[in-house]
Amino acid sequence: MTIHIGDTAPDFEAETTEGSIKFHDYIEGKWAVLFSHPKNFTPVCTTELGYTSKLKSEFDKRNVKVIGLSVDQLSDHAQWAKDIEETQGSALNFPLIADHDRKVALLYDMIHPNASDTMTVRTVFVIGPDKKVKMSLNYPASTGRNFDEILRVIDSLQLTAQHKVATPVNWKSGEDVIIVPAVSDEDARKQYPGGWKAPRPYLRIVPQPK
Ligand code: BEZ
Repeated sequence: MTIHIGDTAPDFEAETTEGSIKFHDYIEGKWAVLFSHPKNFTPVCTTELGYTSKLKSEFDKRNVKVIGLSVDQLSDHAQWAKDIEETQGSALNFPLIADHDRKVALLYDMIHPNASDTMTVRTVFVIGPDKKVKMSLNYPASTGRNFDEILRVIDSLQLTAQHKVATPVNWKSGEDVIIVPAVSDEDARKQYPGGWKAPRPYLRIVPQPK
């Protein structure tokens, strides 16, 4: 099933390293990151899971629940978690779905048959508190993802959810933002009485709202 931005993230039940979950109940009221790994006991995945664990306080700060997925058995996850802690210096601190029957992987189109029939590609879904998909990406198995970038995207998404602004190229939290085209100058003046920089009428730049 192809899942697009704006779609409701499909619900599912699964076994994880932190017990059984019903996905929608698990993420209730929170933002969520659901991400897949090609296979347990593989090097790139090991580094990604260790690094994501180190970012726990950053995800907590943003009210985000993180959940990983790998198409392996729960017993394998437990063994691999020890390796992650020992080699990456950080213990797994979020649930890892044991999707050995590929139920969730197929539901979320995480298996791309021309890449591999059995392993998932590296997908990331960012899901809002309304359970809608806000962002998705696919990386090949050989390329580790940049989880600092995922945090940056979440910062942008959360800002957009609160204010009618968009974020420009390479934006980082604290930098100037853009008033979205759907907001008229008249309405923008109410929100930004100090005005904005506009090198073109359609390019209206303001400091990041607090
Ligand atoms: C890895 O995580 O290192 C990996 C997994 C599958 C294929 C290639 C690399």
